[in-house]
Amino acid sequence: MYASLKSIGSYVPEKIMTNKDFEKIVDTSDEWIEQRTGIKERRIATADQATSDLGAKAAEKAIQRAGINKDEIDLVICATLSPDHLCMPSTACLISDKVGIRNCMAFDVAAACSGFVYMLSIAKAFIESGAKKNILLVGAEKISSLVDYTDRGTCILFGDGAGAAIIGVTEDKNEAIIDIHASADGKYSDLLITPGCGSKYPCRADNVDDKLQYIKMAGNEVFKVAVRTLTKDVVDILKTNGITSDDIDLFVPHQANLRIIEAVRNKLNFPKEKTVFTVGKYGNTSAASIPMAINDAYEAGRLKKGDLMLLDTFGGGFTWASGLVRFGGD
Ligand code: COA
Repeated sequence: MYASLKSIGSYVPEKIMTNKDFEKIVDTSDEWIEQRTGIKERRIATADQATSDLGAKAAEKAIQRAGINKDEIDLVICATLSPDHLCMPSTACLISDKVGIRNCMAFDVAAACSGFVYMLSIAKAFIESGAKKNILLVGAEKISSLVDYTDRGTCILFGDGAGAAIIGVTEDKNEAIIDIHASADGKYSDLLITPGCGSKYPCRADNVDDKLQYIKMAGNEVFKVAVRTLTKDVVDILKTNGITSDDIDLFVPHQANLRIIEAVRNKLNFPKEKTVFTVGKYGNTSAASIPMAINDAYEAGRLKKGDLMLLDTFGGGFTWASGLVRFGGD
């Protein structure tokens, strides 16, 4: 019995924020942003949309495409770094309620941008052990709520959006999640961090005045570790499974920066045609980035049942993860 990615869905808010829009609020330029990041525009949620609203819309699509009833879903997991509420309830509980899924286990995963691939690893274990049969995974982010729009080094990078998938059971290895490698190293935690509004720097006026509630990043250092780690991660998972980049139908990297994607792609000789690029239109949507990219490929007709995807992601923590996943959807 194997775990299979049966369907994919995504949702992006309507509002587009272009690089030109940033020229009006920080000292930057359209050219600088595009050259250094590959980002042209990103989506921004409305004030009354929370992360769970975006996630619920993506979830509805994935459920409908999987062709299952909501009451067949026996586990809901949400990966996010921008939960609706800091402590409770979990965003997974809120998404379950909005979608109409009742009486099943629901919880959040905190692994920053690696969250979706971390969830695949959890879902694979639940399915292969026989404990669950239909698992809803949602990567959803309203990162605009955590961004300091006076910090030009971070605000230009992020966007809002959500992606979702149904992981079900299959007996056919040609539709299975083959392998997931997931890892972390907390010694880099300060390089990419939202310091405030947790137990260390509670949501007090002094901490908020110091802007500790916003994302802080040592961009250049993160960049270097990201390229090194993402490349090694891919080499390792291919080697462990005895396959080469030629066997991969679709390379789906985390969409943080086009230069990071290109560095990894060139080192591993993946052709452009086999790589998914969405960073230009959505920016970095953290835990939503990988499922949104898979959905993009699916809707463009680039993903068929049985195709072998290579997923590769990196994020705050630091966390990182790669996955070899055969698409099990129609
Ligand atoms: N517009 C114009 N100039 C900017 C700028 C902006 N939006 N942001 C930073 N700069 C400036 C810096 O202040 C610096 O100026 P200085 O030389 O006068 O000090 C200069 O550009 C170079 O900064 P640096 O940080 O070295 O640039 P970079 O080439 O590393 O690009 C990032 C910056 C953030 C785009 C890049 O480091 C990056 O993408 N890092 C990884 C981000 C990431 O993937 N994070 C999430 C991981 S999941």
